[in-house]
Formats: sequence, C-alpha cells, structure tokens
Amino acid sequence: MEMTTDTGAGEHIIYDRYKELKAFEESKAGVKGVVDAGIRKIPRMFVRPQDELTEDLAGHTEHSGSSIFETPKIDLQGVDQIDRREEIIHEIRCASETFGFFQLVNHGVPVSVMSEIINGVKRFHEQDTDIKKLLHLNGLVGGVNFGSNFDLYVSKYANWRDTLKCNLLSPEPLDPQEIPATCRDIAVEYGKHMMKLSHTLTELLSEALGLQKDHLRKMDCNECLSMNGHYYPACPEPELTLGTSKHSDPTFFTILLQDYIGGLQFLHQNHWFNVKPIPGTFVVNIGDILQLISNGKLKSVEHRVLANRVGPRISVACFVRPSINSSAKLYGPIEELLSEDNPPIYRATTFKEYTSHSRSKGMNGVSALNYFKLCSFA
Ligand code: OGA
Ligand code: NI
Repeated sequence: MEMTTDTGAGEHIIYDRYKELKAFEESKAGVKGVVDAGIRKIPRMFVRPQDELTEDLAGHTEHSGSSIFETPKIDLQGVDQIDRREEIIHEIRCASETFGFFQLVNHGVPVSVMSEIINGVKRFHEQDTDIKKLLHLNGLVGGVNFGSNFDLYVSKYANWRDTLKCNLLSPEPLDPQEIPATCRDIAVEYGKHMMKLSHTLTELLSEALGLQKDHLRKMDCNECLSMNGHYYPACPEPELTLGTSKHSDPTFFTILLQDYIGGLQFLHQNHWFNVKPIPGTFVVNIGDILQLISNGKLKSVEHRVLANRVGPRISVACFVRPSINSSAKLYGPIEELLSEDNPPIYRATTFKEYTSHSRSKGMNGVSALNYFKLCSFA
C-alpha cells in the first residue's frame, strides 16, 4: 500500500508501508533489531498521529499522566484469617469495580524471584539475535514464541516493544525444555508462584462477586497461564510512538510485574493515570472475560505503555485465562448475578471465539467486548 504524505514543505513522499512492515517482519529481530542498527529516527511504521499520543478524552489535561492519583494497594497479609479476608475481598471488589486495576503487596512471591524473572527476560532479549530468530512467531498457539507486534498488518501503527511468550499452562504444563535456556529455570519457578497467586486471586474474585470461592475455578476461568516477557527498547523519539497502544486485556485477569522505569498508564474517567512502579509489588488488572461473566460489574480497563528515551523497560505480564481449545465451554454473564434489574448485557461466547475476534481486530483501541454486547445494550 502506497501512501502519499505532505511533508509540510510542499513535497510529497511516497511511503510504502507494506514494504516497511514486511522488511521488519522478515528481519525477525524485532524492535531491538531496529535499535541495534543504530537509527536516530524511528521508522515510519511506528509514528503515531499526535492526537493519539496526547489524547485526553475528557478534554481536560490537568490530570493527564498524573501521579497524584494512586492505584489502589491491596495487602494480602492475613488472607486466610476470616476478618482480614473480608476486608481484602471488599477492597478487591471496590478496586475492580472502580478502576479495574490494583497493586498487590505481601503476596508471598519472594523479591529475589521477581528480580530474577526481570533479569531472565532481559537476558533472553539481549542474547544473540540468531537464537531468538528460531523462535520468531513460531505459531501463536504454540508453547513458546518470540515476536514483535503480533497484529502488524492489522493495526495502523506498530508498537515499540518485543515479546517472548511462554504458554506455561495451556492447560497442560509446558515442557521446560521448550523454554529458552536464557530464562528457563527462573521461568519455571516464576510460573509456579504465578499459578499459586492466580489461584488465590481467583478465589478472592469469586467471593468479591458474592459467589462461592471455588465458583470461578469450577468454570475453568483460570485454567491457563501465559507469560509475556516484554522488552521495550530505549526509544530515540518517544514522543512519536507508544510502547503499547491503548487496549484492554483478552484475559480473565492479568498479573503484571514491571521494572522501575515506568510508563504504564490506565484510563479512568477519560484520563490517563500512571501506574507508578513500586518495588516488590504486582499490578493486577481485570480482563475482558471477567468483565463479561460479571455482566459488567468488574471492569476491564484500557491501558497503554508510553515509549521512553531510557531503557530497556522490562515487564512480565501473566495472562490468566480459560483454554482456547475448548469449544464446549461457554462464557456468559453468571446466572447467580443476574436479576430483573440486572439483565445480561453480553451474549455467551467460547474463549476461542472471543480470542479470534480480538486477534482479527488487532490493538485498535476499541474493546473486543463491544462485539459481544446484546443488541439492546449496543
Ligand atoms: C499487556 C500489557 C503492560 C506492560 O501485556 O497486556 O498491558 O507494562 N503490558 O508491559
Ligand atoms: Ni495489557
């Protein structure tokens, strides 16, 4: 596809976007490969329109990118003691209904494991490119793959980010031999901690919805776990692009670990708010499936990551989700939550159908959930 662009000086430059995307994909070296080539200006495929970058949907700017507002912090200490558990459930309910985001402290995962997985992901991305190339987009449903911009040809602009994806539980445990040697041992260990934390959070979220604590587990909402080790290279022109464009997660929920660099923002009342990196904490955000089955009570909130002049920024996002292979299991608003005053907003879907819709759409900033809304709520 050729596009003509006015440079402002009256000249027109022919820009062959398809050619640029294809060359990027064929390099199999991701955004880091672009940076390693020594560029000063970012390639055109990453350049976003200014209004997307400065977007402030309410038309006010005073709170944008603000840190005056703190993401709710939830302390899991004493989660098995009856009184404290009630408080935690209440806090999780409030945070999930209002912001869709919260930060976890005293979650039981050792800080050494948290810093080691960040190091492991960094090692993977910084090793010899030839080894990474072997894993490049090795089938999106396979056990492990490395890539950048899975939606390269679907979305209008590319993100300044590379990702190593390991389907740790799908729902069979991943054979550790499939995990790249640069991060194998720590990924296995991190995965065990994530499975435990995913189990605890699934119970708490069931209770936050007023259901039996095993309700969501019995629906197999948390049957699978995929770990996305993101690498956001330092960007020479961060004001022109994004690390990750606006999206909500195609998950049940997500447990995110970010390093100290920052840049993660979520949308609340049409303003972007920073999720400040706090050492030793995890960020949890509600995903689309949980919004759907809670009939819109818990919010899958849009978020994005700014590009940064410094870096790399490393983050590890663990997607807790149902299995993509089961075409029998339907996810729709939970019966027990519905009433005359609270009729279903969404139709039921399989996770497979949901995922294929979400992927075909790419990260265009429009929630995949809209497609599943019943006509009367569309
Ligand atoms: C994601 C995501 C944020 C980050 O993987 O869906 O939003 O900080 N990641 O990398
Ligand atoms: Ni996300």
